[in-house]
Amino acid sequence: MGPFNFLTRAQVDQVCADYTTPVYVYSENKLEEYADAFLAFPSAYGCTVRYAMKANSNGNILKIFNNKGIKIDASSEYEVYRAIAAGVDPHNIQISGQELPMNYKDLIEKGVFFVATSLHQLETIGKEFPGIQVGVRINPGVGSAAFKKVNTGGWISAFGIWHEYLPEIKRIANQHDLIISKVHIHIGSENTPKSWVNSANIGLELVEYFDDVDTLDMGGGFKMAIMPYEESADLQSIGEAVKEKFEDFYKKTGRKIHLEVEPGKYLVINTCSVVAKIADIVDTGPEGYKFIRTNTGMTEMPRVTMYGVQQPIIVVNDSKETEEYVVVGHCCESGDILTAKLYDHETIEEVTLSKASIGDPIVFEGTGAYNAAMSMKHYNSFPEAGELLVRTDGSIVEMRKRQVPEALWGNEVEVIV
Ligand SMILES: Cc1ncc(COP(=O)(O)O)c(C=O)c1O
Repeated sequence: MGPFNFLTRAQVDQVCADYTTPVYVYSENKLEEYADAFLAFPSAYGCTVRYAMKANSNGNILKIFNNKGIKIDASSEYEVYRAIAAGVDPHNIQISGQELPMNYKDLIEKGVFFVATSLHQLETIGKEFPGIQVGVRINPGVGSAAFKKVNTGGWISAFGIWHEYLPEIKRIANQHDLIISKVHIHIGSENTPKSWVNSANIGLELVEYFDDVDTLDMGGGFKMAIMPYEESADLQSIGEAVKEKFEDFYKKTGRKIHLEVEPGKYLVINTCSVVAKIADIVDTGPEGYKFIRTNTGMTEMPRVTMYGVQQPIIVVNDSKETEEYVVVGHCCESGDILTAKLYDHETIEEVTLSKASIGDPIVFEGTGAYNAAMSMKHYNSFPEAGELLVRTDGSIVEMRKRQVPEALWGNEVEVIV
């Protein structure tokens, strides 16, 4: 066991020698491990696992999950087309997006399941496709999350149809003979087991309101620990507790409700390490800080800039000494920091690392979710980083090439000559 999550020192050296850094490195073993963990989620009357592909949308990752039997939750038509291009059967894809897709007709005709997240979406689908089965995403009026910015329920949230409009949903559905077969709630990220039981109660109350609903989609938000002070969601105990609520609901109503869950982060966050280099070391005098400047940053890991999350960091060398550093990114941008106070992205925080030298590799663990997919690439005109996969036999292959700089301006039209 080295200091790394899944890489070995030899693999880090190999990556640095053979590829341009920064580069995302994923583990096929880890992707399979977390997929298997989720497929064992307990349920009363069946469970469908949908990968929230917004967390990481590389087609190879979609293929690994698709081969396991995991279905897809997409947030835009482009994610749908991307999943189809990766070989996912459209019937295994659901879309629950903020924006009505331009090509919603094509998606529905292909067999994609549509979850309306607004009354406007429901009405539009009803007019175009009367009689079809659809889902509705409801904002149940309460949210829950590890921190405020990722709370997606309650009156501060624009996600889903506000719960007081349930009669309006019924009216629109009746008008167009739509069959509401699924209730969808996703009330936040990194929830506690207690909040899952709470969510199940809220969701089942909504289900009771709609006679034709046979599925409750409880969304994602399953915590996966990446820092030593964090605790992962215990899928078995959450599942068992939720299962009980579904059984109680059956006893009360005679309706056996199918469960759906939409994990994003849990499936991928711990399957990737960003391998980068130390570009410089600077300080702000005896009263100030010592800064490690890296050749990565918000371009590859926006979660720190956006949310102030923390990720394990390893300076790769043989030094026995340690030092306190603030680690920053390569953009000329005050927000480009890699060690922030927890959930406070505006405040820098020192971390203890191996005494570093310019040129040392530096590895950021737990970077597989909402980084490559949410990247602020192209800022300061840095090209998109490549993505590598450590296969189950230990070999390392490229699964996305590093962008060539010309692609940065390739879509520009030369107007000024
Ligand atoms: C509708 C929906 N489902 C699932 C997820 C996945 O959440 P997580 O990555 O926290 O599991 C999200 C994340 O924002 C979401 O909006």
